[in-house]
Amino acid sequence: MKAATYVAYGSSEVVQIRDVPEPVPNDDEVLLRVRAAAINPLDWRMMRGSPSAFRLLYGGLRKPKARPGRDVAGEIEAVGKSVTAFKPGDAVFGACSGACAEYACAAESRLAHKPPGASFEQAAAVPVAGLTALQGLRDFGRVGRGDTVLINGAAGGVGTFAVQIAKSFGAEVTGVCSTRNLEFVRSIGADSTVDYLAQDFTKGERDYDVLFDCVVNHRLDEYRGILRPNGVCVIVGAPKHLSTVGLLKYLVVPKLLSRSDGQRFVTFITKMNERDLPAMADLMTSGEVTPVIDCVYPLSETARAIAYVEGGHARGKVIIVP
Ligand SMILES: NC(=O)c1ccc[n+]([C@@H]2O[C@H](COP(=O)([O-])OP(=O)(O)OC[C@H]3O[C@@H](n4cnc5c(N)ncnc54)[C@H](OP(=O)(O)O)[C@@H]3O)[C@@H](O)[C@H]2O)c1
Repeated sequence: MKAATYVAYGSSEVVQIRDVPEPVPNDDEVLLRVRAAAINPLDWRMMRGSPSAFRLLYGGLRKPKARPGRDVAGEIEAVGKSVTAFKPGDAVFGACSGACAEYACAAESRLAHKPPGASFEQAAAVPVAGLTALQGLRDFGRVGRGDTVLINGAAGGVGTFAVQIAKSFGAEVTGVCSTRNLEFVRSIGADSTVDYLAQDFTKGERDYDVLFDCVVNHRLDEYRGILRPNGVCVIVGAPKHLSTVGLLKYLVVPKLLSRSDGQRFVTFITKMNERDLPAMADLMTSGEVTPVIDCVYPLSETARAIAYVEGGHARGKVIIVP
């Protein structure tokens, strides 16, 4: 089968389409005919092998062991012996390794049935970005009705889900984006917007119950002035250029800034789980969340798609179709 592979660490030329053996599912896995995959910043970070801690996590000294693509939507071709929730022919979405390919294996626990009204491209957009927004706002931000929420990076893969999910929780949402995206961010539900090209939101008059930061382009202590006394800053993103020391600092500083009786700063890693993929399917079915797709590339252009996401200005999600 055809699959996107990394042939080394480096810029997007290292992403090449190769013939690789079709994967064979383990007992707890299904074999999927991939109908759509989505690109995440993780794909270019893995391609760059930077910070170098990523090389320890994702393998090889000379090249990543994994192949591009975490988010997948497709049809089940075969199921492992212990799989009970799915059968061949089912349309599903979720997470796997090497989704930018004609076929992929995925664990049963990392999949859910695709909502019938959603396309494969829309479903593939959801897993990493949608669950990051859901878990960040619900579990760490504890966003509720009437809360004021600022989303930094509102036009991106995670941000477009965060705006819609925060609205579905009854929050009043402010989205930070560039001039060209102001109207777009309002169109997906933001009550107000801040143009980061014209204004620094950390110096604004307003304060917020939750800051949801997908960009991390400010020092975290700059947030104190716009975070309410018991507010939470949920740090989702990481600075683009991140050393291993920077990565450690980014994990430690939020803990140092948090006060037991006041403002909290949290970082977290999204967990793919059996509860939240169906929760996202429900939000899509009810119409509260519609995945935003910036563009769709054929599998043969996976390198271009990853380079585009690395550019840092995707509007919603970038999709690959085999
Ligand atoms: N914690 C986790 O488990 C987890 C999971 C998923 C993702 N992440 C991280 O979360 C971050 C966001 O991911 P993503 O998928 O949303 O990335 P993305 O889609 O690549 O984000 C692109 C968006 O960022 C916006 N942007 C760029 N510079 C900005 C600035 N200075 N201020 C405000 N917005 C700006 C762009 O809007 P404009 O075009 O308007 O500039 C664009 O829409 C990444 O660092 C990613 O690694 C973490």
